[in-house]
Amino acid sequence: MVLTSRTLKETKHKKKSGETTKRAISPGQIFLFGEHAVVYGEPALATAIDAFTTVEAEEERNPRIQIQSKGVGSMEGIIVNENGNWSIKDRKGDVEALRFVSKSIELVFDYYSRATGLTLRIDSDIPTGSGLGSSSAVTTATVAAVSSVLGEKLSHKQIAEIAYSSELEVQGAASRTGVNVATFGGFLRVEEDKFKEIKNLPELSVTIGYTGIYGDTGSLVGEVRKLRKTRPEITDTIIETIGEITDIGIDTLRGGNMKKFGVLINANQNLLEALGVSSPEIRGLIKATRNSGAIGAKLTGAGGGGCMIAITPKDSDNIAKVIQENGCEPIKAKIGVGGLRY
Ligand code: MEV
Repeated sequence: MVLTSRTLKETKHKKKSGETTKRAISPGQIFLFGEHAVVYGEPALATAIDAFTTVEAEEERNPRIQIQSKGVGSMEGIIVNENGNWSIKDRKGDVEALRFVSKSIELVFDYYSRATGLTLRIDSDIPTGSGLGSSSAVTTATVAAVSSVLGEKLSHKQIAEIAYSSELEVQGAASRTGVNVATFGGFLRVEEDKFKEIKNLPELSVTIGYTGIYGDTGSLVGEVRKLRKTRPEITDTIIETIGEITDIGIDTLRGGNMKKFGVLINANQNLLEALGVSSPEIRGLIKATRNSGAIGAKLTGAGGGGCMIAITPKDSDNIAKVIQENGCEPIKAKIGVGGLRY
């Protein structure tokens, strides 16, 4: 194309109206079974929910990274290449709160051995530290949006791999559950680096209860790791039993025996209690929802606050009410939704 003054003007206009912005959207998630145990190679069952994180990325002329995340904070820094690795230096602002985002940007630049200045705008329905997979949603969407700005189209598998490295580096230890569910959506059985979509499940009614308390995944995973070192004979048995419950739970759900499914959800919760990752607020919500007719209830994600899930009979508005009466936020989520779009 010959660049006339008219086409130049049009290009400029396009940039102004945000047409060069690359957008990626990833869902949050809940664990039906297997959190924590999955970090040690046991299977987990998790599913995507209809709460989303949107990342918009735009190229900048200067080698600066600016990140603005609604409700979380903002940070900026300069891109530097040291010994072949890209990193964001001279960071200012909410550096700690945005560590998953900055690590994901660096890893995409390393993947392509190329970098660019960027402005990132993030908007999320998923509260951080809620146990609903906020870090996996933001890492996968960041990897997708930043690679698009570089003019590249990563496969979903490549996105999940880069996002997993990001979580691993920031968190110290992580399973692939979070990034796989955020990327591929649906119901996934995850075991180490393998995952399988579980299809044709009967309808499941789930109400989420959010305590509003921040649960730090890195330190909760660290606590379980410590317990495994000091009490391996007990801890390993608990972890293996959670893995067995996951597989029995998948078969039970497939067979539609909801009463037994609820018993297994409760058994998983008891084992998470034994690992020390529950909290008084979670315990309170579990007791209240079970007393109000929930078939089963357990924490979801890392614990230490965050969220619990109640498996309920259909049309059970009283469960949401009881969560509210306990000073917490009920979230009626649709489950099994699709994964990353970009
Ligand atoms: C956190 O959402 C779930 C954990 O199992 C950690 C992980 O799977 O990476 C605690």
